[in-house]
Amino acid sequence: MSAGIDRLAAYVPQYALPLEELARARGVPPEKLTQGLGVEEMAVPAPCEDVVTLGATAGARVLQAAGVDPREIGMLVVATETAVDHAKPVGIFIHELLGIGPRCRVYEVKHACYAGTAALMAAADWVRAGGPRGRRALVIAADVARYPLGSPGEPTQGAGAVAMLVGRDPRALILGEETGVHARQVWDFWRPLDRREAVVDGKFSVECYLDALGAAFAAYRALERPALQRDEVLSDRLARVLYHTPFPKMAAKAHRRLLEVDLRATHARWTAAEADFERVVAESFAEQVAPGLGAIRRIGNAYTASLYLCLAGLLEAEGRRLGARRIGLFSYGSGSCAEFFGGLVPASVVEAGDAGLARMLAARTRIGVDEYERLVAAAESGGDAPPGFGGAFVFRGVRRDRREYAPIEREAA
Ligand code: HMG
Repeated sequence: MSAGIDRLAAYVPQYALPLEELARARGVPPEKLTQGLGVEEMAVPAPCEDVVTLGATAGARVLQAAGVDPREIGMLVVATETAVDHAKPVGIFIHELLGIGPRCRVYEVKHACYAGTAALMAAADWVRAGGPRGRRALVIAADVARYPLGSPGEPTQGAGAVAMLVGRDPRALILGEETGVHARQVWDFWRPLDRREAVVDGKFSVECYLDALGAAFAAYRALERPALQRDEVLSDRLARVLYHTPFPKMAAKAHRRLLEVDLRATHARWTAAEADFERVVAESFAEQVAPGLGAIRRIGNAYTASLYLCLAGLLEAEGRRLGARRIGLFSYGSGSCAEFFGGLVPASVVEAGDAGLARMLAARTRIGVDEYERLVAAAESGGDAPPGFGGAFVFRGVRRDRREYAPIEREAA
């Protein structure tokens, strides 16, 4: 029995800060951000948004698009590192906002940007264990990335959520059962309990990411069936490769490392490629990786939602072309845990692959640096929806130590 993502929907906040404007305000050459990091815009939430409203909006969209009754959901897992309470999980607020029934396992998972993958794997295992009962899970990956203003991490902020319906005979991505994992305790990126912004050792985090990729991919490669022929490389069996993308240049560095590990494992292929390796990498990147980066260039780092925003963007842009082909996905969470896994895009992906991302990005409002700094200062202060708000729920504020949320009532068109 196959299990995987039956349908997915995304939500990205309505404000977008062009990185060229941030560069000018910080006295940095714009090309350092647009080419050096590869980011064009970053998503900035409104004060009435937090990770609950981001995740709930994506969740409402996926249930509506799939025509699924919320009471059919037997497991709701929310993955985030931007939790709103030390005890109460983000998922239980979303459970109420979406009208999911009481017969549902609800919990939150955290492992930096890896959490969405941990949640997806747990949900797929739960679906497989249910056999013919046809269990349905809702997995939501949602985050708001925050670094101190003016720090090297600032241009790699962003926000967003992806909701995935996980079930049998999926129509968006059939998950392979073998995966390659790698875990190691490192101090590359963390956020102490009393801080809103992350602490990061930026250059070291890039090294940790690449080392974890090499190890997770090698573990995945060793499990490949049918086994690779003597001079065959695994990347030739993958139509596209998606990476956790804190900034698009990271995906380029990652693909270079993956090809190196893959090609070096076969003497003949490495010998043939070594002298012209940069050209080999550039050609492979253009075909296998660049098609999945279009949306993320305009969103920035949405931490644990990042890989799944890449998936949503890829399926929207290329779903028809990828039908019946296999893709590779790499998830990295600082701290650290990494997983390389594969999925088959079913021929029926066309409709199920529309996550609403392109429409949402086209409708955003561009803001300048003054407005961005005002929104950062007012983050999660709560209140009413601003004009043009695209979310389905707002965070009203905290009363009597309780967070209050409300749905947006929209006039019928
Ligand atoms: P930095 O010091 O601002 O930048 O930090 P840099 O000096 O390394 O330059 C960046 C790139 O721009 C370089 O390219 C420069 O050459 C180039 P590279 O050599 O790397 O290919 N450059 C230019 N290009 C064109 N024109 C110019 C120019 N000048 C320079 N004029 C850093 C960069 C990534 C360290 C910083 O942004 C940072 O700390 N970011 C946050 C940490 C991060 O994103 N780490 C990624 C791996 S860890 C991860 O992904 C997990 C994470 O998502 C968290 C989680 O798991 O929850 C972060």
